[in-house]
Amino acid sequence: MGIAIEVEGLTKSFGSATIWEDVSLTVPPGEVSVLLGPSGTGKSVFLKALIGLLKPERGSIVVDGKDLTEASAKELYEIRRLFGVMFQDGALFGSMSLYDNTAFPLREHTKKKEDEIRDIVMEKLEMVGLGGDETKLPGEISGGMRKRAGLARSLVLDPEIILCDEPDSGLDPVRTAYLSQLLIDINAQLDCTILIVTHNINIARTVPDNMGMLFRRKLVMFGPREVLLTSDEPVVQQFLNGRRIGPIGMSEEKDEATMAEEQAHLEAGHHGGGVEELEGVPPQINATPGMPFRKAVKRRQDRVRQNLHLLPKNAQQAILESLGDDPGKARGDDPDDDDHDDRDDRGRHHGRSDDDARTESIPAQQQ
Ligand SMILES: Nc1ncnc2c1ncn2[C@@H]1O[C@H](COP(=O)(O)OP(=O)(O)OP(=O)(O)O)[C@@H](O)[C@H]1O
Ligand SMILES: [Mg+2]
Repeated sequence: MGIAIEVEGLTKSFGSATIWEDVSLTVPPGEVSVLLGPSGTGKSVFLKALIGLLKPERGSIVVDGKDLTEASAKELYEIRRLFGVMFQDGALFGSMSLYDNTAFPLREHTKKKEDEIRDIVMEKLEMVGLGGDETKLPGEISGGMRKRAGLARSLVLDPEIILCDEPDSGLDPVRTAYLSQLLIDINAQLDCTILIVTHNINIARTVPDNMGMLFRRKLVMFGPREVLLTSDEPVVQQFLNGRRIGPIGMSEEKDEATMAEEQAHLEAGHHGGGVEELEGVPPQINATPGMPFRKAVKRRQDRVRQNLHLLPKNAQQAILESLGDDPGKARGDDPDDDDHDDRDDRGRHHGRSDDDARTESIPAQQQ
């Protein structure tokens, strides 16, 4: 199972500008989490802090028992090997083929022979639907393909934690749906911790187990998906519905007077932006049939049930509904959910259908 990231009291500034302060959250191990937030609220800075590329002024980031903010260069190098990172801009080397780009971390961080490297690179490129494109240069493929190549590269070292910075930006809605499925399937196959930064409302509503949001230099909230999806915080509502009306402005936060003026326009019949009023908690995407079940589903249900009393009422209700009529019996995508005898002591599953399924790769997506 993937590793947790425990963040406590984290504050980051550049000069006199505080980007965010006192951020505390635990990214649950082996689960999929999403971090939302308007442009410029410091989401990319947050991801960079999590891998030690930027040093926060205060607070701690504990991964695998080590505090990154106090780690030596050598320790940091070791901790970073646990991470696979998909940067916002893909960050591929322009003069290298997709093959060499994907092989880069293996050549840099391991002593593997070229034939071993070939097997891993081709497996990961297949996984993201780029089998057959390995000789192409980043300049010769579409933006969406570059994103997927970045994802393939983030997978080659078998990461315990995957960080994805806006994996969907520049993708059409259909490819975004494929990407959502791919991220869930990767979680099902690797049981790794995944943290996704995104602006995409569909991804936010259907992919993660947990969600958080940065706004006005604070973490507004972070918790089970139901908490954000049922929140009546104006900033959360505005963001999830893609509305112009609300506390988030074009370049900065709005003042009260502007908000009142906009509200008056709205009441006079002017369109508020956004295409639909979304309410409630839509179903979460399951792993593709034939894939191993996502172990995160059961783990999250157990955790959420334990902490249910700490959550807001709306979230409690949504969670109880998702658990089925009998809140004592969880509903997940594990068909053998109530029978754990066929697992070994490392939690691996030996059920018939799953054994067959584990060897199956994710179907290639067409670009
Ligand atoms: N190395 C740096 N030095 C100084 N300021 C920086 C640096 N990196 C980021 N910033 C500032 O930190 C703020 C947050 O930037 P960041 O890239 O994290 O935003 P973001 O939430 O990822 O936005 P977007 O959604 O547009 O990607 C911005 O004001 C940016 O100018
Ligand atoms: Mg960013």
